Amino acid sequence: MADKIAVIGCGFVGVSLSVALAISGYEVAGVEVDTAKLKLLQDGQVPFFEHGLDDLFAKAMATGKLSFSSDYSTAIPGATIIFAAVGTPSRADGSVNLDYLEGAAREASKYCGSEAVWVTRSTVPVGTGRKLALIFAQTDKTVAVVSSPEFLAEGSAMRNTFFPDRIIAGSDNPEAARKVIDVLRAIEDQGQRFADDDLATYASLYSGARTISAGAAPTPAVAHTPAPAAELVIGLESAELIKVSSNSFLAMKISFANMVARVCAASGADVTEVMDGIGLDKRIGRDYLYPGLGWGGGCFPKDVAGFIGTLASWGIETELMDGVKQINAAQIDYVKSLATELLMGTLTDKKITVLGASFKPGTDDVRESQSVILAIALARAGAIVTLTDPLAEPSTEIARLTAESPLTTPISFQKDLGTAVQGADLLILATEWPEYVNANFAEIGAILSQKNIIDARNKIPTGKLEAAGYKYKTIGGAKSNE
Ligand code: UDX
Repeated sequence: MADKIAVIGCGFVGVSLSVALAISGYEVAGVEVDTAKLKLLQDGQVPFFEHGLDDLFAKAMATGKLSFSSDYSTAIPGATIIFAAVGTPSRADGSVNLDYLEGAAREASKYCGSEAVWVTRSTVPVGTGRKLALIFAQTDKTVAVVSSPEFLAEGSAMRNTFFPDRIIAGSDNPEAARKVIDVLRAIEDQGQRFADDDLATYASLYSGARTISAGAAPTPAVAHTPAPAAELVIGLESAELIKVSSNSFLAMKISFANMVARVCAASGADVTEVMDGIGLDKRIGRDYLYPGLGWGGGCFPKDVAGFIGTLASWGIETELMDGVKQINAAQIDYVKSLATELLMGTLTDKKITVLGASFKPGTDDVRESQSVILAIALARAGAIVTLTDPLAEPSTEIARLTAESPLTTPISFQKDLGTAVQGADLLILATEWPEYVNANFAEIGAILSQKNIIDARNKIPTGKLEAAGYKYKTIGGAKSNE
């Protein structure tokens, strides 16, 4: 009989992992304490949107190996490995709240077997594993603590799960780390089996790539499977540092591109040409050098803030990461200044439609979305702002971001593109959804008050905009976007 594995926390990371484990043959007990979420899972529904996950979830449920409960006393006993994928949200001061994770470890420690392996999958600051080990040390069990960060991007989570580019396990106990690697390899083997036996599922794992953000790698041909993941069995602290450092580095690349974009705009260079040239250096690479409105979402803002907190707590200079954050915030002011220029010096009472609310296309996630932050900044500058998005609903995030200082003129949300753009003085492409990038701008132009557009993601071919008679601005002097 296959091992029983418990997964604590059934959010985006936990469900992706549970589904992959069950399809790969493991008995999986998911633990979720949020009753509304739990009910949906038990009824066979994924409680959030993730490309391709619904089908795989149904497949996993059909194996009969995947179950969900809120009860540690049934889920944990007998589990050889316990993955923790609970939320580790930011506190108001940017530090990471580990209460849920530590609570989960305390509960699990009551019911786990004496040789169980605990694997932290949640993103945590370095040093967390040691604290968790102390919790387990208070029992008479010899639970090994392993850190195995995940690198799932929204919109490609299942692809990243079945075809990871790296598998990492950090622990004082190399045998426990090896056990974790073996399980993650089994998932990867299942991915390879899709390529051999179930091409439809295999192809669907890739079809989301179209909607993934500018920085995503191009969709590989379905006919070839990716190379097996590289693996690292390392120390606990090293593994913990890899996730936040990776995300901070990627955010730094994007902010760097946004900084260079400003020089390009000022000097007459074209940022796309410059980034193409820089990206040809294999030491740098072209990914995550796409300038735009900046980075948002559930990971980069939280991880950059968390990393700054970690640096500060060790007395290490934070200037580099502070700068990365500042440049990201400044992109909002930059796009606002482009809008002011196009609208002849004032935003007051100008009707502006922001295209896209999610933090990137292919997801309904609006957490820390630069598109929403931009819409708020424009509204505060006196503009009459409409937000539109094919999937995401931004009102809760708008309310959260304006709680301390409510807007005098509310932002209106219109899902329908035609209604949203009606009578606008300016359009701003904020999230590069294909339906906006490929929209018929000639037709749209007919219902605008003024044909002005800012392509804040450098995705709309400028030739199309010129042919339709728009006045337009791009980021960093990008000239064609073909
Ligand atoms: C990220 C990491 O990619 C993933 O490895 C990690 O596990 C979780 O955090 P995700 O938050 O889903 O994933 O988003 P990602 O696709 O990386 O994009 C993050 C933000 O950066 C988006 O707002 C996107 O628009 C922006 N971005 C990305 C750019 O502005 N330019 C780029 O070149 C790439």
